[in-house]
Amino acid sequence: MDDTTSDLSGQRERPRALQRRTVLASGAVFLGVSAVGYRVLTAGPATLDLDLVPIDVESALPVPPLLEDLGDGISLRAAESNTSFIDGVASRTWGFNQPFLGPTIRLRRGERVPVTVTNELDEAITSHWHGLHVPGAVDGGPFNLIQPGESWDLTLDIVQQASTNWYHSHVHGNTGRQVYLGLAGMLLVDDDDADAMQLPGDYGIDDIPLILQDRTFLEDGSLLEINGRGVFLGEIMLVNGALRPVVDLQAKRNRFRVLNAANARIFNLVMGDGSPMVKIASEGGLLNAPVAIDSLRLSPGERAEIVIDLTEYAPGDEVVLRSTNVNGDGAMEDEFDVVRIRIIEQTSDNPPLPTVMNDVPDATELLNSVTVAATRDFALRGGAINGDAFDHDVINHVTERGTWEVWNITGGAHPFHVHGCSFLLLPPNGGEVAPEDAGWRDTVPVGNGVQLLMRFDHEAPVEATYMYHCHLMGHEDAGMMGQFAVVEDPGTVELALASHQTSSNAAAGEPVDADVWYCDLTAQEI
Ligand code: C2O
Ligand code: CU
Ligand code: CU
Repeated sequence: MDDTTSDLSGQRERPRALQRRTVLASGAVFLGVSAVGYRVLTAGPATLDLDLVPIDVESALPVPPLLEDLGDGISLRAAESNTSFIDGVASRTWGFNQPFLGPTIRLRRGERVPVTVTNELDEAITSHWHGLHVPGAVDGGPFNLIQPGESWDLTLDIVQQASTNWYHSHVHGNTGRQVYLGLAGMLLVDDDDADAMQLPGDYGIDDIPLILQDRTFLEDGSLLEINGRGVFLGEIMLVNGALRPVVDLQAKRNRFRVLNAANARIFNLVMGDGSPMVKIASEGGLLNAPVAIDSLRLSPGERAEIVIDLTEYAPGDEVVLRSTNVNGDGAMEDEFDVVRIRIIEQTSDNPPLPTVMNDVPDATELLNSVTVAATRDFALRGGAINGDAFDHDVINHVTERGTWEVWNITGGAHPFHVHGCSFLLLPPNGGEVAPEDAGWRDTVPVGNGVQLLMRFDHEAPVEATYMYHCHLMGHEDAGMMGQFAVVEDPGTVELALASHQTSSNAAAGEPVDADVWYCDLTAQEI
């Protein structure tokens, strides 16, 4: 097929992303973080006119290989390589065990998994298990640095319910650039309860991972490299690392595990023919019941599982999953085809969706039945939280392990993410939480403000804290992030911290190991 805009659904329009333009500095006005706007490209290198490039529009959606613990644990190896996104043109990319992105790690509740992450790149990386409830020491945040040529050995105890998570590098000041180059992958947790639901679960067949990212290519067809700062918005979508993918599916219910792994773009997914989707899971696991939705809006860091019922389609039919205009968020009006779905055959193997899938507590009832040990306020603004930019040397608060906390977040369209737990949304004043938002979460758009109920069951000591941050990677890299410790007795830690701050002022550098407390915000500025 040579007409990349051929009308498949009867009403498709040419995606704006395919038109030639220079890279916009739109990020500089978006969300008001002009100080870290994407200035380097305001002069605008010429970017690729994708209409002029013979892209194989029939390219099959790549499905990342599964990586499971078959007895030897899990090994990831980060290295540089080349990827040809556009026929014959090599781009420098990074990946875990593959040239771009990484395998889909699949683990099971109750498993204890030895993991090794080896860094063959020439700069420090980390491997953060976004969504996993694991102690700070193995969380993979900015303090779990893996230096070039070194390996990080750890053990993951999988104690949480079935869920769609992901992993990515998380070096402060470099997260956006490293993830852009490819250091990210999906991480699935399975369990017996979810298995019993008989949801579509044949990986790559009717259970399809969709890693959504936007990228920009230069005139020569190579990937534009970015420094990760500001709000990067790419001109075309990559799904599992591929441009314009097609997936062949049976005429039945199919499940998509959708991850927004973009640096900054919000996606709003709809079926091209307007047919409904069913949301079955949020970041932390299954919803209590399937919820019919017209569209699925995902900010960076968020995941959702949806089921698309293709029963009424016939072999040969095509339908497109699209990302439409995200109203109200400047510069996000671009529309993209995400994946073309081609129906290949009928099947009688199509169990109905269960009506009850989980027992997520009602947040208000839970709030009324527990003791809230701390209430905290976080205002996301101007490359900082509560006015403070991330500082490796400053622990922003200390939480008591095993207690409930209420966090009030304000600041607008920032996706707020917390490490080490899943949380529930509390209803806004006089309002309700929509059923599709009432599952366990770990990343949520703040909008007009959100109130979160959470508990931390694992330790994150002073030397291995958890992070909370905006998941627009340019924002987190600019400092819209904080760190907190989770311990048995916050009182002693707070005292120790106070004296630590004093002594580190007195004897500069003494308690700080430069290898561990790595932070270089200037190195990547162009
Ligand atoms: Cu996706 Cu702090 O993480
Ligand atoms: Cu995380
Ligand atoms: Cu932000």
